[in-house]
Amino acid sequence: MRAVLALLLLGLATSAQADFDAASYPPYERCALCHGLFGQSHLDKFPHLAGQKPAYIQAQLDAFLTGARTNDGGQMSAIVTELKAEDFAVVVAWFAEQDPPEPAAQPATSSGKELTEASGCLDCHSGDAAGAVPYLTAQHAGYLAKQMRDFLDGRRIHSEAAPVHQNLLADMEAGIEDIAAYLSSLERTP
Ligand code: HEC
Ligand code: HEC
Repeated sequence: MRAVLALLLLGLATSAQADFDAASYPPYERCALCHGLFGQSHLDKFPHLAGQKPAYIQAQLDAFLTGARTNDGGQMSAIVTELKAEDFAVVVAWFAEQDPPEPAAQPATSSGKELTEASGCLDCHSGDAAGAVPYLTAQHAGYLAKQMRDFLDGRRIHSEAAPVHQNLLADMEAGIEDIAAYLSSLERTP
């Protein structure tokens, strides 16, 4: 009896496996665990991707793939190797198309606003900036602060923008959290 049952269960398991066709799932499902299926993540360490500029998303995926960007703790560098060449355009379009995240609810300090305005951050990081310049508004504050420190410490040096940030943020260690909180509290406008 037991052997029959075991055979029956084995049969069920085999047919269930045959129905599970991972190749038929869209490639952005691989990203959902960390970034959310619709590009809005729950943890600060995973950036929101929703509504981010497509050229910027593409540029970062390329940088992780070539090994130029390495400040990800190895997570992105590994996952991009699982994408097929034709998947890149699909994931970029998917996340860029999603509604942007809501601004963070916590209040920003006035020094965050002053430092951001005095440094001209949003002149470059505006909605109509051409090229691969990311939106910073409504991004997780913790993620933004980490990136600023990564620029400063030389862990994020893969783009021409690295020295710009090193200059702007030099001697501003105390202001980094304030700038990040201010940016994350702003509504994303195109
Ligand atoms: C295991 C977790 C994990 C998975 C799965 C994952 N990511 Fe990430 N991703 C991260 C982390 C962590 C970072 C931030 C790294 C850092 O701190 O610089 C990141 C950063 C990024 C960035 C850079 C964003 C920016 O603002 O610079 C992009 C683009 C991105 N991921 C796209 C994707 C895509 C597309 C997928 C699916 C193919 C994916 N990620 C899957 C963990 C993950
Ligand atoms: C001259 C234009 C310029 C100015 C000014 C500028 N940035 Fe940037 N910033 C960029 C570009 C371009 C990138 C994308 C770099 C890359 O591809 O890795 C970037 C990336 C970033 C990132 C990473 C975002 C992400 O999603 O990973 C942060 C955070 C950031 N900038 C913060 C700032 C802050 C804060 C200021 C003001 C103190 C500032 N930037 C001023 C051009 C600029």
